[in-house]
Order: sequence, then C-alpha cells, then structure tokens
Amino acid sequence: MRLGVLISGRGSNLQALIEAGGGPGEIALVISNRPGAAGLAHAAAAGIPSVVVAEPDRGIFAGRAEVLLHEHRVELVCLAGFMRVLDTRFVEAWRDRMVNIHPSLLPAFRGLDPQRQALAAGVRFSGCTVHFVRPELDTGPIIAQAVVPVHPDDDEASLSARILAAEHRLYPLAVRLIAEGRTRIVDGRVEIDGWDVPELQVLNPSERPLAPLVSTPL
Ligand code: GRF
Repeated sequence: MRLGVLISGRGSNLQALIEAGGGPGEIALVISNRPGAAGLAHAAAAGIPSVVVAEPDRGIFAGRAEVLLHEHRVELVCLAGFMRVLDTRFVEAWRDRMVNIHPSLLPAFRGLDPQRQALAAGVRFSGCTVHFVRPELDTGPIIAQAVVPVHPDDDEASLSARILAAEHRLYPLAVRLIAEGRTRIVDGRVEIDGWDVPELQVLNPSERPLAPLVSTPL
C-alpha cells in the first residue's frame, strides 16, 4: 500500500514508519506544511520524496495536497504530528483512507496538549490512539490503542516521552493492519481480523487473570 505522510515538525512517528520498512506499506510521499520541519530530513535520509506546502489558506492547501497525493498514487494518508485542521471536503474525500495518531486514550483528552490534560485530570493511565480521521478534531473509528502508566512524579515531558515510545510501536502496527486488509469499519467501529494481535498484547496490559487480592489488616 502506498502511504502519504503529512507532518508539521519533529517527524519521529514518520521515522518509526520508515524504520518499520515495507510492513505498513511504502511511503510514497511526505508533505509538510512547515518549511523547517525536522521530519523533512528523515524523508531525505530515506530517499523519500517530500514537498513543502506552506499555504495558509485551508482550501488551497487541501487542493495542492490532493494533487500531490494523486500524482504519487497514495492510497492511505497518515497524519503524523500534522498540526493543522484539515479542510472538511478533503477529510471526506479521504474518508476511511486517512489515519491519525493522538497522544491520549481517545475519546479522552482531544485537542491540544493531551498529556497536560491527562496530568491535570489525575488519570492513572494514558497512552495513544490510532484512528480513522473524521471532520471533528480527534474523532473517528479507533484502530488501535496502547496504554502507559502515569507516575505520581510525572511532568508533561516525562509523560510525553513515555507515550511517544508507545506511539512509535503502535503507529506502524496499526498501519500494517490496514495494509494487510485486516480492518473493517462496522457501525462506526473498527473490526480487526484476528483481533488478538500479539504485538498489541505486548503493548497493553495483559488479559491474563489477576492474582487474587491478599487482604491485609488495616
Ligand atoms: C505526537 O505525539 C503525535 O501523537 C501528535 O504529535 C506528535 C508528533 O510527534 N499528533 P512527531 O512529529 O511524530 O515526532
């Protein structure tokens, strides 16, 4: 499957997709909306064509991106730290063919700074979500999630780093499931053929029964 990856900055998730090799598909094109995006260097180092579309108008950006994706025969668009809201018509045109990774367990903590939101809410676990993209920000059928603990002494940087490490494992895996034709959207939810994907179990808490609670006197 031919992938088009949209970035705005660092591009570590792009790099994770590159390092995963052909499993999740072949990255045919990288588009950045920022000229200085560090991720562009990852594309160059891997010999992947990249284009900067620094167009402030949302509709014009969508039109240019559409032409480029078509020219490079892209079949699945992967948003990887793409920090702009996309034109609704573009989102609808790529319905069920565009995915995003978000650093929280959606539907919790949509929008900006989800790690900060998680810390403020005092949750004990957070993580990341790969989902098909719908026009409303950070919504859409969930393909895969990975869970990480939130430690009492975490700050935004330490929690973000722990989640990012999970992102780098989850994104290539989720895209591979799509590339292998193993995902289906039924009633707004994603069904996966062979749902007990071993790698997903490595990323997430075990489903094995918990040890019995030992009651201790108070
Ligand atoms: C990641 O945390 C991703 O989940 C979010 O933006 C960040 C991008 O990081 N959407 P990178 O550019 O892939 O390093």
